[in-house]
Amino acid sequence: MEKTFLMVKPDGVQRNLVGEIVARFERKGFKLAGAKLMVIPSTLAEQHYGEHSDKPFFGELVDFITSGPVFAMVWEGEEVIATARQMMGATKPQDAVPGTIRGDFGVTVGKNVIHGSDSPESAEREINLFFNEDQMVDYKKEN
Ligand code: CMP
Repeated sequence: MEKTFLMVKPDGVQRNLVGEIVARFERKGFKLAGAKLMVIPSTLAEQHYGEHSDKPFFGELVDFITSGPVFAMVWEGEEVIATARQMMGATKPQDAVPGTIRGDFGVTVGKNVIHGSDSPESAEREINLFFNEDQMVDYKKEN
C-alpha cells in the first residue's frame, strides 16, 4: 500500500491543529502507520529540505521547522501521496482553496501548517529520514 510522509509544522502544533488535521485524514479513510511529536534537530531539517538548500529562504525554512515541536506522521492508503497534497492545498495559503488544510488554516508561505511528500521518491526518502521500520505499524501483519 502506498505511504506518504506528512508533518504538522510548528505553527500547526502551537495552534492545536494536530487533532483537526489527523481527523481529516482518518475521515478520508487513510490509515495512520506512524507518528511522533518531536523537535527536529537542524541536521535533520537540512537533510529534509536539502532540495531547497540554494533557495534564499533556506535559512528561514530550517530555523522555522526547528523552532518548536512538529507532529511527524506516516499515512498509508490508495494514492495517498497525491490525495494528501490535494487535501493540504497550495503551498501559498492565499492560493489554497477553502476546504483544504492550508486554505482553512494557513497564514503565510512559511507558516503553512503542514508539509507533505510531493512524489513517491520524496515519500520514501522522507519516511526513511524520520522513521525506523520498527516505529511504523504493518496493518497487514496485524489482521
Ligand atoms: P513545504 O511543503 O514544507 O516545502 C518547502 C517549504 O518551503 C514550503 O512548504 C514552504 O513552507 C516554504 N517556502 C516556500 N517558499 C517560501 C518563501 N518564499 N519563503 C519562506 N518559505 C517558503
